[in-house]
Amino acid sequence: MKAIIWPKYGPPEVLQLEEVDKPAPADNELLIKVVAANVFPGDCEMRRFQMHPSLWLPIRIFMGIRKPRLKILGQELAGEIEAVGKDVTRFKSGDQVFGATAMKLGAYAEYVCLPENYVLALKPDDVSYEEASTLAVGGIHALHFLRKGNVKSGERILIYGAGGCIGTYAVQLAKLLGAEVTTVDSASKLDMLSDIGADHVIDYAEEDFSNNGIRYDVIFDVVGKSSYSRSLYSLQANGRYLLANVGLSVILRGLWTSRFGDKKVIFALANLNSEDLVYLSDLLVAGKIKSGIDRCYPLAQAADAHSYIESGCKQGHVVLTVA
Ligand SMILES: NC(=O)c1ccc[n+]([C@@H]2O[C@H](COP(=O)([O-])OP(=O)(O)OC[C@H]3O[C@@H](n4cnc5c(N)ncnc54)[C@H](OP(=O)(O)O)[C@@H]3O)[C@@H](O)[C@H]2O)c1
Repeated sequence: MKAIIWPKYGPPEVLQLEEVDKPAPADNELLIKVVAANVFPGDCEMRRFQMHPSLWLPIRIFMGIRKPRLKILGQELAGEIEAVGKDVTRFKSGDQVFGATAMKLGAYAEYVCLPENYVLALKPDDVSYEEASTLAVGGIHALHFLRKGNVKSGERILIYGAGGCIGTYAVQLAKLLGAEVTTVDSASKLDMLSDIGADHVIDYAEEDFSNNGIRYDVIFDVVGKSSYSRSLYSLQANGRYLLANVGLSVILRGLWTSRFGDKKVIFALANLNSEDLVYLSDLLVAGKIKSGIDRCYPLAQAADAHSYIESGCKQGHVVLTVA
């Protein structure tokens, strides 16, 4: 089969299309023919190994000291089950599925084997493979943080770094909850953010939201680039500060603030699960949220897809079309 091989840490060009052995499913596994794989910005961070300094060593030990232990990137996919192991009961050959590969990665390939108990769900007929491939990591993290932040109707939420995979779903889900949504991102993404429902948009290069005199109930920083102290200052008493990207020092400050202050800091990532996949795909089918795909690239052009994401021009999602 064809796959995008990731032989070493580095720039997008390290990603190479190669012919590798097609995997065979173990007794509890599904062989999935991949049709679409979302290119999550976290894939780019892994590829170039851009991690918070405080977490660099443990993550490097986990992922491979000199070179990546896993050779194929890709956390999210949609495809068709081609074969199942003899103990599989949850799915059958021919099922169209979508979900996450979790720490096995491997979605940038024509085929991947995943245990049947992984974060997978049946793809609704009305949802394309490309759309379905965007739901697992971005959609579930958006849902997870809004739930953890207990976002309620009428509350003010500011979403910082709203124009990407997590943020575009967070904006739409916060609107469904009845919140008043302010988004912060670069100028080129503000029209798109208004189109998907943002009530207010802020260009981070032009305006510091913490100077606008508004106190928010919730601040959700998707990219980990907001100022900790100024964000806390911009929260109401009992406000919640949600962070999808943190280093050790913010974790320690967050634990202190939550323990001794009148605001909560929440940074634990989501436990991806199949129930949330079904919930999100039902919202897509009902037209209550949109997937917001910016571009699709053929599998062979995975390096170009990574370069495009790193150009900062991406709006929403970039997807690899595989089959
Ligand atoms: N499994 C995983 O890999 C995983 C899971 C959970 C969370 N995460 C974390 O989630 C983050 C990625 O979220 P995502 O996929 O939504 O990212 P994304 O698609 O890259 O979107 C991030 C948005 O933030 C904007 N941005 C960059 N700098 C900013 C700043 N200083 N102020 C305001 N906005 C800014 C970017 O726009 P410009 O580029 O135009 O500035 C972009 O629109 C990563 O940091 C990753 O570590 C990863």
